[in-house]
Amino acid sequence: MSDYSATLDTLKGLVPEELLNPRVGIICGSGLSGLPASLKQSVLVSYDQLPGFVQSTVPGHKSSLAFGLMGSGAGVPVVAMLGRFHPYEGHKLSSVVYPVRVMAKLGVKDIIITNAAGALNPELVVGTIVVVHDHIALPNLTGMNPLLGPQTDLSLPRFLPLSNTYSRLLRKLVFQAAHDLSIERDALAEGTYAWVSGPTYETPAEGRFLRAAGADVVGMSTVPEVLAAREEGMNVLVLSLVTNAVVIPSGYKSVRDEFEAEIAGTLTNPGVDDVVSHEEVLSLGRLKGDLMKSLVEKVLEFIPSD
Ligand code: 6GU
Repeated sequence: MSDYSATLDTLKGLVPEELLNPRVGIICGSGLSGLPASLKQSVLVSYDQLPGFVQSTVPGHKSSLAFGLMGSGAGVPVVAMLGRFHPYEGHKLSSVVYPVRVMAKLGVKDIIITNAAGALNPELVVGTIVVVHDHIALPNLTGMNPLLGPQTDLSLPRFLPLSNTYSRLLRKLVFQAAHDLSIERDALAEGTYAWVSGPTYETPAEGRFLRAAGADVVGMSTVPEVLAAREEGMNVLVLSLVTNAVVIPSGYKSVRDEFEAEIAGTLTNPGVDDVVSHEEVLSLGRLKGDLMKSLVEKVLEFIPSD
């Protein structure tokens, strides 16, 4: 699993030399699947050609690495994962983060990770892009951490501090990019991402629990990759696209109240149980994909090259 040389040798055989030293890595979640269309000189390498890579099994996710130039002018050399791996698919955490470590070996210094997420903060409307500045990862706190295990690479820190995980500079660049693109202020927000293992969505009570703990959005990805990227010394930017609301502003509607109103003949609006679906998540991703893409392209232009 840790034989990166086999993966790197394969890439050397498939990708032109001028694209093999990408500066920026991108992980495309459900909101960025249209990204390869805007890459210049793009070369796609399917995961099944790459030793160490597993397959993405989630509908709507592709399974390729894309190398190419992104953004205006000459463009910035990037490597993008079209389709990511999740622990809920049955993949080991080491497999989930393997591509991030390959990116590090290719020389990637900055990584932009996107995902779809549910809103816990009632002020976040569907379609908002949240610039993540912190996370809560219950799985990490209870033994499901991609950095668990013997230290095989002594050049990496044993006890990784996470107080400055999400690059302040990169986060600020998102707001600069949005400003330059005249994107309306409400389209963006800042927040804390809660990572849960999935594949089930949260119950309303779990949603309230995560909200009470201080999270603004919740999703089933990203944090494992963030940890590996930080361990590898990369600067990390995470953008979450809000695809649905978990904690609905009105909260729980009592069925006892509803029943009593019904027999009293005063019932006006019966409660409904909202159900989130993967289709909803994907369709919102398609709707906001272009916005996410222009934002990422603009941020790339601003990232310092040293
Ligand atoms: Cl509501 N929950 C989780 N865990 N992941 C999501 C989501 C919700 N919406 C999109 N991704």
